[in-house]
Amino acid sequence: MHRTTLGGKAFICSMKLILMVVHMKIPEDVRKDIPLTQEVIYFDNTATSLTPKPVVEAMDEYYLKYRANVHRGVHRLSQKATHEYEKSREITAKFIGAKFEEIVFTKNTSESLNLAALGLEGVLKKGDKIVTTPYEHHSDLLPWQRLTKKLDLKLEIIEGDNEGNLDLADAEKKIKRAKLVAVQHVSNALGVIHEVEELGKMAKDEGAIFVVDAAQSAGHMEVDVNKLHADFLAFSGHKGPMGPTGIGVLYIRDEFFDVFEPPLIGGGTIEDVDLYDYKLTQPPERFEAGTPNIGGAIGLAAGIKYIEKIGIDKIEKQEHELVKRITEGLTELEIPWYGPRDLKKHAGVVSFNVPPLHPHDVASVLDEHNIMVRSGHHCALPVMKKLGINGTVRASFHVYNSLEEVETFLGVMEELVKSLR
Ligand code: ALA
Repeated sequence: MHRTTLGGKAFICSMKLILMVVHMKIPEDVRKDIPLTQEVIYFDNTATSLTPKPVVEAMDEYYLKYRANVHRGVHRLSQKATHEYEKSREITAKFIGAKFEEIVFTKNTSESLNLAALGLEGVLKKGDKIVTTPYEHHSDLLPWQRLTKKLDLKLEIIEGDNEGNLDLADAEKKIKRAKLVAVQHVSNALGVIHEVEELGKMAKDEGAIFVVDAAQSAGHMEVDVNKLHADFLAFSGHKGPMGPTGIGVLYIRDEFFDVFEPPLIGGGTIEDVDLYDYKLTQPPERFEAGTPNIGGAIGLAAGIKYIEKIGIDKIEKQEHELVKRITEGLTELEIPWYGPRDLKKHAGVVSFNVPPLHPHDVASVLDEHNIMVRSGHHCALPVMKKLGINGTVRASFHVYNSLEEVETFLGVMEELVKSLR
Protein backbone atom coordinates (compact mmCIF):
# COMPACT_ATOMS: atom_id res chain seq x y z
CA MET A 1 0.00 0.00 0.00
CA HIS A 2 2.79 2.34 1.07
CA ARG A 3 4.71 1.49 -2.09
CA THR A 4 1.65 2.13 -4.25
CA THR A 5 1.21 5.60 -2.71
CA LEU A 6 4.85 6.42 -3.36
CA GLY A 7 4.53 5.12 -6.91
CA GLY A 8 1.46 7.32 -7.36
CA LYS A 9 3.38 10.37 -6.11
CA ALA A 10 6.23 9.62 -8.48
CA PHE A 11 3.72 9.27 -11.30
CA ILE A 12 2.12 12.64 -10.48
CA CYS A 13 5.58 14.26 -10.28
CA SER A 14 6.63 12.92 -13.65
CA MET A 15 3.29 14.01 -15.16
CA LYS A 16 3.97 17.52 -13.82
CA LEU A 17 7.40 17.40 -15.43
CA ILE A 18 5.89 16.36 -18.75
CA LEU A 19 3.31 19.15 -18.51
CA MET A 20 6.10 21.63 -17.73
CA VAL A 21 7.90 20.54 -20.87
CA VAL A 22 4.77 20.71 -22.99
CA HIS A 23 4.03 24.20 -21.69
CA MET A 24 7.58 25.57 -22.02
CA LYS A 25 7.04 29.30 -22.43
CA ILE A 26 8.62 30.76 -25.55
CA PRO A 27 10.91 32.63 -25.44
CA GLU A 28 11.00 33.22 -21.64
CA ASP A 29 11.92 29.69 -20.51
CA VAL A 30 14.65 29.33 -23.13
CA ARG A 31 16.12 32.72 -22.18
CA LYS A 32 16.50 31.49 -18.58
CA ASP A 33 18.83 28.75 -19.83
CA ILE A 34 21.00 31.16 -21.83
CA PRO A 35 22.63 33.79 -19.58
CA LEU A 36 23.86 35.94 -22.50
CA THR A 37 20.27 36.75 -23.49
CA GLN A 38 20.08 38.82 -20.27
CA GLU A 39 23.06 40.90 -21.34
CA VAL A 40 22.72 41.60 -25.07
CA ILE A 41 20.25 41.51 -27.92
CA TYR A 42 21.76 38.77 -29.99
CA PHE A 43 20.59 38.90 -33.61
CA ASP A 44 23.55 37.07 -35.16
CA ASN A 45 22.25 33.52 -35.04
CA THR A 46 23.04 32.78 -38.66
CA ALA A 47 26.73 33.13 -37.82
CA THR A 48 26.45 31.13 -34.60
CA SER A 49 23.86 30.62 -31.87
CA LEU A 50 24.11 31.24 -28.15
CA THR A 51 24.62 28.20 -25.95
CA PRO A 52 22.08 26.89 -23.43
CA LYS A 53 23.36 25.59 -20.08
CA PRO A 54 22.48 21.89 -20.73
CA VAL A 55 24.91 21.89 -23.68
CA VAL A 56 27.74 23.29 -21.56
CA GLU A 57 26.89 20.86 -18.74
CA ALA A 58 26.97 17.83 -21.06
CA MET A 59 30.42 18.81 -22.33
CA ASP A 60 31.62 19.59 -18.81
CA GLU A 61 30.58 16.15 -17.75
CA TYR A 62 32.61 14.55 -20.54
CA TYR A 63 35.71 16.64 -19.84
CA LEU A 64 35.53 16.37 -16.06
CA LYS A 65 34.04 12.91 -15.45
CA TYR A 66 34.86 10.49 -18.28
CA ARG A 67 37.46 12.17 -20.46
CA ALA A 68 39.01 9.49 -22.69
CA ASN A 69 39.43 8.58 -26.35
CA VAL A 70 36.80 6.56 -28.23
CA HIS A 71 37.08 3.13 -29.92
CA ARG A 72 40.61 2.79 -28.59
CA GLY A 73 40.52 1.32 -25.12
CA VAL A 74 38.97 -1.30 -22.95
CA HIS A 75 39.21 0.75 -19.77
CA ARG A 76 35.96 2.05 -18.35
CA LEU A 77 36.48 5.72 -19.21
CA SER A 78 37.05 4.85 -22.85
CA GLN A 79 34.01 2.57 -22.79
CA LYS A 80 31.84 5.35 -21.36
CA ALA A 81 33.21 7.97 -23.82
CA THR A 82 32.59 5.58 -26.74
CA HIS A 83 29.07 4.88 -25.52
CA GLU A 84 28.22 8.60 -25.20
CA TYR A 85 29.86 9.48 -28.54
CA GLU A 86 27.90 6.79 -30.39
CA LYS A 87 24.71 7.73 -28.54
CA SER A 88 25.27 11.26 -29.88
CA ARG A 89 25.46 9.83 -33.39
CA GLU A 90 22.18 7.99 -32.81
CA ILE A 91 20.46 11.21 -31.59
CA THR A 92 21.84 13.12 -34.58
CA ALA A 93 20.69 10.43 -37.02
CA LYS A 94 17.17 10.44 -35.61
CA PHE A 95 17.12 14.25 -35.77
CA ILE A 96 17.36 14.21 -39.60
CA GLY A 97 15.64 10.87 -40.30
CA ALA A 98 18.91 9.09 -41.15
CA LYS A 99 20.37 5.72 -40.22
CA PHE A 100 23.03 5.57 -37.50
CA GLU A 101 25.87 4.62 -39.88
CA GLU A 102 24.97 7.40 -42.35
CA ILE A 103 26.10 10.12 -39.91
CA VAL A 104 29.71 11.30 -40.19
CA PHE A 105 30.96 13.84 -37.67
CA THR A 106 33.05 16.62 -39.21
CA LYS A 107 34.22 20.07 -38.16
CA ASN A 108 31.43 22.14 -39.74
CA THR A 109 29.25 22.54 -42.85
CA SER A 110 32.15 23.83 -44.95
CA GLU A 111 34.23 20.76 -44.17
CA SER A 112 31.26 18.47 -44.81
CA LEU A 113 30.61 19.95 -48.26
CA ASN A 114 34.31 19.89 -49.16
CA LEU A 115 34.51 16.23 -48.11
CA ALA A 116 31.42 15.46 -50.20
CA ALA A 117 32.99 17.04 -53.31
CA LEU A 118 36.34 15.30 -52.75
CA GLY A 119 34.79 11.90 -52.08
CA LEU A 120 32.66 12.09 -55.22
CA GLU A 121 35.59 12.79 -57.57
CA GLY A 122 35.67 9.19 -58.70
CA VAL A 123 31.95 9.17 -59.49
CA LEU A 124 31.99 12.09 -61.95
CA LYS A 125 33.73 12.25 -65.31
CA LYS A 126 34.58 14.79 -68.04
CA GLY A 127 31.52 16.56 -69.46
CA ASP A 128 29.19 15.66 -66.55
CA LYS A 129 26.88 18.42 -65.41
CA ILE A 130 26.63 19.90 -61.91
CA VAL A 131 23.69 22.21 -61.18
CA THR A 132 23.42 24.71 -58.35
CA THR A 133 21.73 28.05 -57.49
CA PRO A 134 22.89 31.68 -57.61
CA TYR A 135 22.39 32.01 -53.83
CA GLU A 136 24.87 29.49 -52.43
CA HIS A 137 27.22 30.24 -49.57
CA HIS A 138 30.84 30.03 -50.79
CA SER A 139 31.08 26.67 -49.00
CA ASP A 140 28.50 25.16 -51.33
CA LEU A 141 29.96 26.77 -54.44
CA LEU A 142 33.76 26.71 -54.33
CA PRO A 143 34.09 22.92 -53.86
CA TRP A 144 31.88 22.35 -56.95
CA GLN A 145 33.72 25.02 -58.96
CA ARG A 146 37.04 23.35 -58.15
CA LEU A 147 35.71 19.91 -59.03
CA THR A 148 34.34 21.30 -62.31
CA LYS A 149 37.76 22.68 -63.25
CA LYS A 150 39.65 19.59 -62.14
CA LEU A 151 37.47 17.06 -63.99
CA ASP A 152 36.40 19.29 -66.89
CA LEU A 153 32.75 19.19 -65.89
CA LYS A 154 29.96 21.69 -66.70
CA LEU A 155 28.56 23.91 -63.96
CA GLU A 156 25.08 25.34 -64.58
CA ILE A 157 23.19 27.81 -62.41
CA ILE A 158 19.39 27.83 -62.00
CA GLU A 159 17.84 31.23 -62.73
CA GLY A 160 16.38 33.17 -59.83
CA ASP A 161 15.18 36.68 -58.99
CA ASN A 162 16.62 39.31 -56.66
CA GLU A 163 14.40 38.20 -53.78
CA GLY A 164 15.94 34.75 -53.86
CA ASN A 165 13.05 32.94 -55.57
CA LEU A 166 14.24 30.17 -57.87
CA ASP A 167 12.69 29.77 -61.31
CA LEU A 168 11.45 26.20 -60.96
CA ALA A 169 10.75 25.80 -64.68
CA ASP A 170 14.39 26.70 -65.36
CA ALA A 171 15.45 24.31 -62.58
CA GLU A 172 13.60 21.48 -64.31
CA LYS A 173 15.33 22.30 -67.60
CA LYS A 174 18.81 22.60 -66.09
CA ILE A 175 18.47 19.48 -63.94
CA LYS A 176 17.74 17.38 -67.06
CA ARG A 177 20.73 15.06 -67.58
CA ALA A 178 22.54 16.51 -64.55
CA LYS A 179 24.85 14.21 -62.60
CA LEU A 180 24.84 16.22 -59.38
CA VAL A 181 22.59 18.93 -57.96
CA ALA A 182 23.76 20.95 -54.93
CA VAL A 183 21.41 23.42 -53.23
CA GLN A 184 21.08 25.28 -49.98
CA HIS A 185 17.92 24.77 -47.94
CA VAL A 186 17.93 28.36 -46.62
CA SER A 187 20.02 31.30 -47.83
CA ASN A 188 22.27 32.80 -45.15
CA ALA A 189 22.23 36.12 -47.03
CA LEU A 190 18.59 36.50 -48.11
CA GLY A 191 16.74 34.20 -45.73
CA VAL A 192 14.82 32.54 -48.54
CA ILE A 193 13.64 28.95 -47.97
CA HIS A 194 14.10 27.07 -51.23
CA GLU A 195 11.81 24.34 -52.60
CA VAL A 196 14.35 21.65 -51.74
CA GLU A 197 11.84 18.83 -51.75
CA GLU A 198 10.80 19.63 -55.32
CA LEU A 199 14.38 20.12 -56.47
CA GLY A 200 15.33 16.82 -54.86
CA LYS A 201 12.53 15.07 -56.68
CA MET A 202 13.70 16.57 -59.99
CA ALA A 203 17.27 15.42 -59.26
CA LYS A 204 16.17 11.90 -58.35
CA ASP A 205 13.99 11.61 -61.48
CA GLU A 206 17.17 12.26 -63.47
CA GLY A 207 19.26 9.86 -61.40
CA ALA A 208 21.41 12.79 -60.20
CA ILE A 209 23.17 12.92 -56.82
CA PHE A 210 21.35 15.42 -54.60
CA VAL A 211 23.42 17.43 -52.08
CA VAL A 212 21.75 19.71 -49.53
CA ASP A 213 23.42 22.48 -47.53
CA ALA A 214 21.25 22.57 -44.41
CA ALA A 215 23.52 24.96 -42.45
CA GLN A 216 20.73 27.51 -41.98
CA SER A 217 17.77 25.18 -41.69
CA ALA A 218 18.78 22.40 -39.27
CA GLY A 219 17.51 23.37 -35.84
CA HIS A 220 15.23 26.08 -37.24
CA MET A 221 12.78 23.93 -39.21
CA GLU A 222 12.21 20.28 -40.00
CA VAL A 223 15.08 18.68 -41.92
CA ASP A 224 14.41 15.10 -43.01
CA VAL A 225 16.84 13.54 -45.47
CA ASN A 226 14.16 11.28 -46.91
CA LYS A 227 11.53 13.97 -47.42
CA LEU A 228 14.19 16.16 -49.06
CA HIS A 229 15.50 13.24 -51.22
CA ALA A 230 19.03 14.10 -50.03
CA ASP A 231 21.92 11.79 -50.86
CA PHE A 232 24.35 14.04 -49.00
CA LEU A 233 23.41 16.69 -46.45
CA ALA A 234 25.58 19.00 -44.38
CA PHE A 235 25.02 21.11 -41.28
CA SER A 236 26.93 22.63 -38.38
CA GLY A 237 26.39 21.96 -34.70
CA HIS A 238 26.88 25.54 -33.55
CA LYS A 239 24.07 27.20 -35.51
CA GLY A 240 20.46 25.98 -35.35
CA PRO A 241 21.15 23.01 -33.03
CA MET A 242 22.70 25.32 -30.38
CA GLY A 243 25.72 23.03 -29.96
CA PRO A 244 29.40 23.97 -29.67
CA THR A 245 31.64 25.14 -32.51
CA GLY A 246 33.98 22.63 -34.18
CA ILE A 247 31.40 19.91 -34.76
CA GLY A 248 29.47 19.37 -37.97
CA VAL A 249 27.67 16.60 -39.78
CA LEU A 250 27.93 15.01 -43.19
CA TYR A 251 25.03 12.71 -43.97
CA ILE A 252 25.93 10.10 -46.60
CA ARG A 253 23.08 7.93 -47.94
CA ASP A 254 24.13 4.30 -47.50
CA GLU A 255 23.72 3.61 -51.24
CA PHE A 256 26.91 5.67 -51.70
CA PHE A 257 29.09 3.88 -49.17
CA ASP A 258 30.87 1.81 -51.81
CA VAL A 259 31.47 4.56 -54.38
CA PHE A 260 32.27 7.42 -52.02
CA GLU A 261 36.05 7.49 -51.56
CA PRO A 262 36.94 8.68 -48.02
CA PRO A 263 39.01 11.84 -48.56
CA LEU A 264 40.90 11.22 -45.28
CA ILE A 265 42.15 7.83 -44.14
CA GLY A 266 44.31 6.55 -41.29
CA GLY A 267 43.59 5.91 -37.62
CA GLY A 268 40.23 4.32 -37.03
CA THR A 269 39.28 3.88 -40.70
CA ILE A 270 40.68 0.42 -41.34
CA GLU A 271 39.86 -3.22 -40.89
CA ASP A 272 43.37 -4.43 -41.73
CA VAL A 273 46.72 -2.99 -42.85
CA ASP A 274 50.03 -4.39 -43.97
CA LEU A 275 53.04 -2.50 -45.27
CA TYR A 276 51.75 -2.09 -48.82
CA ASP A 277 47.98 -2.17 -48.57
CA TYR A 278 44.96 -1.65 -46.36
CA LYS A 279 41.33 -2.68 -46.14
CA LEU A 280 38.87 -0.03 -45.00
CA THR A 281 36.40 -0.73 -42.24
CA GLN A 282 32.63 -0.21 -42.39
CA PRO A 283 30.96 3.24 -42.17
CA PRO A 284 30.72 5.43 -40.22
CA GLU A 285 34.28 4.75 -38.89
CA ARG A 286 35.50 4.47 -42.50
CA PHE A 287 34.82 8.19 -42.91
CA GLU A 288 36.19 9.47 -39.59
CA ALA A 289 39.99 9.42 -39.61
CA GLY A 290 41.78 10.23 -36.36
CA THR A 291 40.46 11.16 -32.94
CA PRO A 292 37.12 12.89 -33.46
CA ASN A 293 35.68 15.89 -31.62
CA ILE A 294 34.19 13.74 -28.85
CA GLY A 295 33.14 16.58 -26.53
CA GLY A 296 31.72 18.43 -29.55
CA ALA A 297 29.55 15.49 -30.61
CA ILE A 298 28.27 15.11 -27.04
CA GLY A 299 27.52 18.85 -26.94
CA LEU A 300 25.75 18.67 -30.30
CA ALA A 301 23.52 15.84 -29.07
CA ALA A 302 22.68 17.87 -25.96
CA GLY A 303 21.77 20.81 -28.23
CA ILE A 304 19.55 18.61 -30.39
CA LYS A 305 17.81 17.23 -27.29
CA TYR A 306 17.33 20.77 -26.05
CA ILE A 307 15.71 22.07 -29.23
CA GLU A 308 13.59 18.92 -29.51
CA LYS A 309 12.35 19.62 -26.00
CA ILE A 310 11.29 23.11 -27.14
CA GLY A 311 9.75 21.70 -30.33
CA ILE A 312 10.88 22.56 -33.84
CA ASP A 313 7.38 23.85 -34.73
CA LYS A 314 7.57 26.35 -31.86
CA ILE A 315 11.01 27.51 -32.97
CA GLU A 316 9.71 28.04 -36.50
CA LYS A 317 6.62 29.87 -35.26
CA GLN A 318 8.58 32.22 -33.00
CA GLU A 319 11.06 33.09 -35.76
CA HIS A 320 8.18 33.69 -38.16
CA GLU A 321 6.57 36.18 -35.74
CA LEU A 322 9.89 38.03 -35.43
CA VAL A 323 10.37 38.16 -39.21
CA LYS A 324 6.82 39.46 -39.65
CA ARG A 325 7.38 42.30 -37.21
CA ILE A 326 10.90 43.28 -38.28
CA THR A 327 10.02 43.40 -42.00
CA GLU A 328 6.87 45.39 -41.22
CA GLY A 329 8.90 47.83 -39.09
CA LEU A 330 11.66 48.21 -41.67
CA THR A 331 9.05 48.85 -44.37
CA GLU A 332 7.43 51.55 -42.21
CA LEU A 333 10.84 53.19 -41.82
CA GLU A 334 11.42 52.91 -45.57
CA ILE A 335 14.54 50.85 -44.99
CA PRO A 336 15.13 48.50 -47.94
CA TRP A 337 15.22 44.84 -46.89
CA TYR A 338 16.03 41.78 -48.96
CA GLY A 339 14.63 38.31 -49.42
CA PRO A 340 11.18 37.09 -50.42
CA ARG A 341 8.09 39.29 -49.79
CA ASP A 342 6.16 36.05 -49.33
CA LEU A 343 6.99 35.59 -45.64
CA LYS A 344 6.06 31.90 -45.74
CA LYS A 345 9.26 31.52 -47.75
CA HIS A 346 11.30 33.75 -45.43
CA ALA A 347 13.29 32.09 -42.63
CA GLY A 348 14.54 34.02 -39.57
CA VAL A 349 17.26 35.88 -41.47
CA VAL A 350 16.58 39.47 -42.54
CA SER A 351 19.14 41.44 -44.54
CA PHE A 352 18.77 45.18 -45.09
CA ASN A 353 20.67 48.38 -45.83
CA VAL A 354 20.49 51.98 -44.66
CA PRO A 355 21.86 53.99 -47.58
CA PRO A 356 24.16 55.86 -47.73
CA LEU A 357 25.69 54.17 -44.67
CA HIS A 358 28.08 51.24 -45.07
CA PRO A 359 26.67 48.04 -43.52
CA HIS A 360 29.58 47.94 -41.02
CA ASP A 361 28.71 51.44 -39.80
CA VAL A 362 25.09 50.43 -39.19
CA ALA A 363 26.28 47.33 -37.33
CA SER A 364 28.57 49.51 -35.17
CA VAL A 365 25.69 51.82 -34.26
CA LEU A 366 23.58 48.80 -33.31
CA ASP A 367 26.46 47.44 -31.22
CA GLU A 368 26.58 50.75 -29.33
CA HIS A 369 22.96 49.97 -28.41
CA ASN A 370 23.88 46.43 -27.33
CA ILE A 371 22.42 44.78 -30.45
CA MET A 372 24.61 42.23 -32.23
CA VAL A 373 24.14 41.80 -35.99
CA ARG A 374 26.43 40.74 -38.81
CA SER A 375 27.36 43.03 -41.69
CA GLY A 376 29.25 42.40 -44.93
CA HIS A 377 28.90 39.99 -47.83
CA HIS A 378 28.12 36.97 -45.59
CA CYS A 379 30.37 34.66 -47.65
CA ALA A 380 27.86 34.94 -50.48
CA LEU A 381 29.58 37.33 -52.89
CA PRO A 382 27.65 36.16 -55.98
CA VAL A 383 24.42 37.17 -54.18
CA MET A 384 25.81 40.65 -53.45
CA LYS A 385 26.95 41.00 -57.08
CA LYS A 386 23.53 39.93 -58.34
CA LEU A 387 21.91 42.61 -56.16
CA GLY A 388 24.54 45.22 -57.10
CA ILE A 389 25.49 45.93 -53.49
CA ASN A 390 28.69 45.51 -51.48
CA GLY A 391 26.99 43.96 -48.48
CA THR A 392 24.05 44.04 -46.11
CA VAL A 393 23.30 44.35 -42.43
CA ARG A 394 21.77 41.10 -41.26
CA ALA A 395 19.51 40.42 -38.29
CA SER A 396 19.05 36.70 -37.72
CA PHE A 397 16.96 35.01 -35.06
CA HIS A 398 16.61 31.96 -32.90
CA VAL A 399 13.77 30.90 -30.63
CA TYR A 400 15.13 32.85 -27.63
CA ASN A 401 14.74 36.20 -29.40
CA SER A 402 11.68 38.21 -28.39
CA LEU A 403 9.29 40.69 -29.98
CA GLU A 404 10.44 43.23 -27.34
CA GLU A 405 13.98 42.91 -28.68
CA VAL A 406 12.71 43.55 -32.21
CA GLU A 407 10.89 46.67 -30.95
CA THR A 408 14.11 47.92 -29.29
CA PHE A 409 15.96 47.30 -32.54
CA LEU A 410 13.32 49.20 -34.56
CA GLY A 411 13.54 52.10 -32.09
CA VAL A 412 17.29 52.38 -32.70
CA MET A 413 16.75 52.16 -36.45
CA GLU A 414 14.12 54.90 -36.29
CA GLU A 415 16.57 57.23 -34.53
CA LEU A 416 19.28 56.38 -37.03
CA VAL A 417 17.04 57.04 -40.02
CA LYS A 418 15.85 60.37 -38.50
CA SER A 419 19.46 61.48 -38.04
CA LEU A 420 20.07 60.91 -41.77
CA ARG A 421 17.01 62.72 -43.16
N1 ALA B 1 28.03 31.29 -42.74
C1 ALA B 1 27.87 31.99 -41.53
C2 ALA B 1 27.14 33.28 -41.72
O1 ALA B 1 26.48 33.45 -42.68
C3 ALA B 1 29.15 32.13 -40.83
O2 ALA B 1 27.23 34.16 -40.89
